[in-house]
Amino acid sequence: MKKWKVGFVGVGGIAKYAHMPGWKNLQGAEVVAVSDVREDVAKAFAKDFGIKNVFTDYNKMLEMDELEIIDICAPNMIHYPAAMAGFKAGKHVLSEKPLTVTPKHVQDMIDASKKAKKKLCSIQNHRFRAEAQVLKKMIDKGECGEIYYARAHALRRRLLPVAPTFIKKSLSGGGPCLDIGVHALDLTYWLMGHPKVRSVSGVALTKLAKREDIHGDWGEWDRKAYDVEDFAAGYVKFANGASLTLECSFLLNTKENEVFSAQVFGTEAGAYLPWGSPPEIYTEKNRTFMVKQLVGLPQVATHSEEIRLFLEAVDKNKEVPVPPEQTLEVIKILDGVYRSSKSGREVRFTK
Ligand SMILES: NC(=O)c1ccc[n+]([C@@H]2O[C@H](COP(=O)([O-])OP(=O)(O)OC[C@H]3O[C@@H](n4cnc5c(N)ncnc54)[C@H](O)[C@@H]3O)[C@@H](O)[C@H]2O)c1
Repeated sequence: MKKWKVGFVGVGGIAKYAHMPGWKNLQGAEVVAVSDVREDVAKAFAKDFGIKNVFTDYNKMLEMDELEIIDICAPNMIHYPAAMAGFKAGKHVLSEKPLTVTPKHVQDMIDASKKAKKKLCSIQNHRFRAEAQVLKKMIDKGECGEIYYARAHALRRRLLPVAPTFIKKSLSGGGPCLDIGVHALDLTYWLMGHPKVRSVSGVALTKLAKREDIHGDWGEWDRKAYDVEDFAAGYVKFANGASLTLECSFLLNTKENEVFSAQVFGTEAGAYLPWGSPPEIYTEKNRTFMVKQLVGLPQVATHSEEIRLFLEAVDKNKEVPVPPEQTLEVIKILDGVYRSSKSGREVRFTK
C-alpha cells in the first residue's frame, strides 16, 4: 500500500494532541518532516514521534521532493502563505481552521489548488461528530422540511485562550469570530445545506478583554497586546431566502460558562445540536408538540476522522471532506462581520 509522505507546518498544541494521533492511525500515511519557527518545539515534536527531518522554515521543508502533503497547524495568519507555497511546490494542503481570514485569500487558495491539481481542505472537525453526521443525514432526507432560519452560538463566559496565537491580530487575524465562531458557523451552515451568502451585517467589539478587573478561567493574558474582539454577532441573509444569526465570545456576562451549538429551524421541524448533550428535533404531530432525542451515539475522534477522509480523497482523487467552496462562504460571513462592524453598514455579495 502506498504511504503518502506528510510534513507539518507548525507543531504546537493542536498538531501534537489532535493531528499527529490522526496521521499515526493511518496505514497509508507517514509523517516525515516538521517545521516550526521555534526550533526547540520542532525538535521536541520530532523526537517524541520519531520524525527525521526538522526545519525552522517551511519553505525549506517544501523543497523535499518526497513530501506530498502538508498539514498546516500554525497560527491563522500563516495558513495562507504556507498553503500558497505548498501548492507552488506541488503538495496537497490540509489546514487548520479558519482556512484563512479573507474571501479573496480563500479564492486564491482554491485557484492555486486547481492549478496545481492538488487537494485543499480545512479542518472543520465538528462536522465529524457522530451526532452531527446523523443529524445531517436526517436533515438531507427532509426531516426539517425547508430550513429558513438558523442560529450558531459559540459563547463563553470567561474562557479566553491566553496564547498570542489567539489574541494577537498579526497571528490570529481576529478573536472569537475566527477562533470558535468559525466552528459553530461552519457546523450550522453545513446543516442548512450550505446556501450562497447574499449579505452580512454585524459587530465585533472589545468590551472586557482589556480590563484588569476581568479574570479568565484559563489564566492571565497580556491586556496590552490584546488587539482582537472579545465578542462578535452577525446577521446573514442567503440567496435561498434563509437567514442566520451568529454570536460568539471569549468573555461575556452570561449564565453558562460555555454554550456551543447549532440550531436550524424548518417548515417540518427544528433541530438543536449542542455540545455535550444529545441533539434534539422539535416538531408537531396531531396538534401535539413532539421532541425526538438522538441517543447512544459513539464518541468520535473528530480530527482523526477528518484526516482519514482527507487522505482517502487524496489517495482516490475524490472530493475532500470539507469542500473549500463551502469554506469560502463561511469566511465571507466572518469577514463580513468585521467589515460591517467597521463600516456600520451591511456587506453585500453579488455572486
Ligand atoms: N480545530 C480545532 O479544534 C482547533 C483547536 C485549537 C487550535 N486550532 C487551530 O490550530 C492552529 C494552531 O493552534 P495551536 O493551538 O496549535 O497553537 P500553538 O500556539 O500551540 O501552536 C502553533 C505553532 O505554530 C508555530 N508557528 C508560528 N509561526 C509559524 C511559521 N511561520 N511556520 C511554522 N510554524 C509556526 C508556533 O511556534 C507554534 O509552535 C490555529 O490556526 C488554530 O485556530 C484548531
